[in-house]
Amino acid sequence: MTTPAITVTHLTRRFGDFVAVDDVSFDVQQGEIFGFLGANGAGKSTTIRMLCGLLRPTSGTATVGGVDVGRDPEAVKLRIGYMSQKFSLYEALTVDQNIRFFGGVYGLEGERFARRRAFALDMAGLVGREKSLTRELAGGWRQRLALGCAILHEPPIVFLDEPTGGVDPVSRRQFWRLIDHLSQQGTTVLVTTHYLDEAEHCHRIAVMNAGKLAALGTTRELKQVFEGRPIMEVQAPSAVVAMRALDAMPEVEKTSLFGTAVHAVLRSHQTTAERVTRQLLTAGVVATSVMPVEPSLEDVFLDLVERTSA
Ligand SMILES: Nc1ncnc2c1ncn2[C@@H]1O[C@H](COP(=O)(O)OP(=O)(O)OP(=O)(O)O)[C@@H](O)[C@H]1O
Ligand SMILES: [Mg+2]
Repeated sequence: MTTPAITVTHLTRRFGDFVAVDDVSFDVQQGEIFGFLGANGAGKSTTIRMLCGLLRPTSGTATVGGVDVGRDPEAVKLRIGYMSQKFSLYEALTVDQNIRFFGGVYGLEGERFARRRAFALDMAGLVGREKSLTRELAGGWRQRLALGCAILHEPPIVFLDEPTGGVDPVSRRQFWRLIDHLSQQGTTVLVTTHYLDEAEHCHRIAVMNAGKLAALGTTRELKQVFEGRPIMEVQAPSAVVAMRALDAMPEVEKTSLFGTAVHAVLRSHQTTAERVTRQLLTAGVVATSVMPVEPSLEDVFLDLVERTSA
């Protein structure tokens, strides 16, 4: 096995008394797409900023591309690409001016710069729009340009902090094709997202909750938390009324809303859909459909956040 691209050991960051990142440890393999999930304030960006050499760890260590981020943050910056959550491009500059700016930051010149500039324009779908103001670009183009600028210097490791926030579904898919492509070429990608459908693209997923690593594994591994706890999907004229009735059943561990349906987590496989339907009827709820479903990543996420917050 090759050495991991990223090794995180007992990484901790405090702000005063508040522990934003609490004793987090994990490895990311070379070429892996590693997803970072977690509610707002879970500590994802703080972790990323430490891994990028932008914020000093309070304790613990992290090695990125062979460099200890606490000891040599400047050396880390040369080995990585970083697309931050808030700022990624200069809005008042044109497409071309942004590419030139980042080319300058990374010390790209001559033929290499010309080649990478062409690559970024092509990747972003902005050939012919070099003179457009960045603030006038639609979300999808802007995010692809930001990615192009972040990887202009061909870094082996890339950190993307919510790269698809507020971007439409078609553009999100295009963006994920670029991530898949980077990974296939051997680039390591650590990416955060609140879109759980996107997390399915990741080789492995880490779920953070209140500064701690709540779970880590492949989607399939994460879904194993529902082993022995089947999920019944219930459709009824009023989801809220159905939810109340389900919550009152001893066979039901808990419920959550999924669009217009309710997901009821059962305590055992003994409880059939027929039984749930009958119980609901007894409670005065006529369900239009009751059927067992596979756990989705959203079920996993809600379950983890609930249990680790309890
Ligand atoms: N410089 C700072 N000073 C004080 N507190 C901070 C600082 N930076 C982050 N925090 C706090 O640390 C916690 C974790 O923040 P962080 O930005 O890492 O969360 P996140 O998981 O990225 O959330 P989001 O999904 O909203 O981006 C939050 O409670 C935040 O308010
Ligand atoms: Mg964040």
